[in-house]
Amino acid sequence: MQRTVIIDALKSKELNRPINVRGWVRSRRGNKQVSFIALNDGSTIKNIQIVVDLEKFSEEQLKPVTTGSCISATGTLVASQGAGQAVEIQLTELEIYGTADPDQYPLQKKGLTMEYLRTIAHLRPRTNTFGAVFRIRHNMTMAIHTYFHEHGFFNFHTPLITASDCEGAGQMFQVTTKNLYNLKKDENGKIDYSDDFFGKQASLTVSGQLEGELAAMALGKIYTFGPTFRAENSNTPRHLAEFWMIEPEVAFIDKNELMDLEEDFIKYCVRWALDHCMDDLEFLNQFVDKGLIERLRSVIDTEFVRLPYSEGINILQEAIKNGQKFEFPCNWGDDISSEHERYLVEKHFGKPVIMTDYPKDIKAFYMKINEDGKTVQGTDVLFPQIGEIIGGSVREESMDKLNAEIEKRHIPMKDMWWYLDTRRFGAAPHAGFGLGFERLMLFVTGMSNIRDVIPFPRTPKSAEF
Ligand code: 4AD
Ligand code: MG
Repeated sequence: MQRTVIIDALKSKELNRPINVRGWVRSRRGNKQVSFIALNDGSTIKNIQIVVDLEKFSEEQLKPVTTGSCISATGTLVASQGAGQAVEIQLTELEIYGTADPDQYPLQKKGLTMEYLRTIAHLRPRTNTFGAVFRIRHNMTMAIHTYFHEHGFFNFHTPLITASDCEGAGQMFQVTTKNLYNLKKDENGKIDYSDDFFGKQASLTVSGQLEGELAAMALGKIYTFGPTFRAENSNTPRHLAEFWMIEPEVAFIDKNELMDLEEDFIKYCVRWALDHCMDDLEFLNQFVDKGLIERLRSVIDTEFVRLPYSEGINILQEAIKNGQKFEFPCNWGDDISSEHERYLVEKHFGKPVIMTDYPKDIKAFYMKINEDGKTVQGTDVLFPQIGEIIGGSVREESMDKLNAEIEKRHIPMKDMWWYLDTRRFGAAPHAGFGLGFERLMLFVTGMSNIRDVIPFPRTPKSAEF
């Protein structure tokens, strides 16, 4: 018999008909007359209840039906007599696909910690929490592609292997086929990459922006959506070594239009979650983060604050004067750290903040320099619980200014020739941003550790699965 997915079975109005469902047993309980199996197939967080008449099935037949086992259940879909569900299935035929020894199956108990579940990342999608998170992750992917498609952006695929360090932060993972035990070096002791696979030093990309800019100078509005890699040794709940980034790049927009895009885009994604993922959000709201749904609603209803960096520093210094303690200093010129971001967003304004016009020296080489010569047109979006969720900027389109910055920062010029050509041939004002997909996921799910919103997290000293 053809399988019905549980999400459809639960919604079905056609009762008293034969039906077949397949999935993993969440629990089995009952008494001498009847047994109840809670079955989940991942299509929804909800289980379907399968009622087993013990006059028709023996205890022996049901013995392999333990938590974690996989079964195919055929029966009659009927209105449920019990509370908690509209329909249930009266079992007529049972097939066991795979057993799960109760003495060994790790998801037997309730209340397992997130830390423990990370050690069984191959099984954790079968829990309610991770099922919800990964269904939402899919939905956020769809929201992102839909938003850009509907707004006339083209999805542009930028390379993962590259020879340029977009952010200039020296956090790249090298890609080589060389024998690391026997490296060929030149007379100065430098590694000779000429016989390496790419004939030069290559790495995994930290951002698709530079290639994205090339595309925006031809297609007008593009976005990338792919994995990026950073060898930054930060063991925090908000950093991954492999994370997904969405990077739109748009010709002919200025700083204000860029901020409008950032705000509209994030709100669209959050609204999508509320419109498409309510069952999962309700679960997370109940068991993971009681303020979740309210926080999501408040973000789509509120106007983000737009705050120049210098004003932000004034607010933070005022707070220090009034007794607020921070771990890191925050004088004009210092990088804003996540405690400062969170103070501004959570305590001072109580809503998302787009911070603009940062000191030049704490930002990347490509940002457009303001007339004051000291600040650049960055537009980072700071979110409650998360801190920085988007990093964006208007790009410097003047060849001379860009060249001066590249020289000052000792960025190897010859490797940048193709990027500079966009400023040489038909240069245009343009701007773009990068949204950290897992940071968005943290916000939308209320999960507190970034390792728990990506299926298989990569972090320092951890690349299991
Ligand atoms: O601020 P970042 O470094 O900006 C860029 O890479 C630009 N090239 C983007 C652009 O303008 N096209 O990174 C962008 C975002 C951050 O705001 C953050 O959300 C996320 O990427 N991010 C990380 N997420 C998880 N783990 C990490 N190690 C991250 N580093 C950055
Ligand atoms: Mg940034």
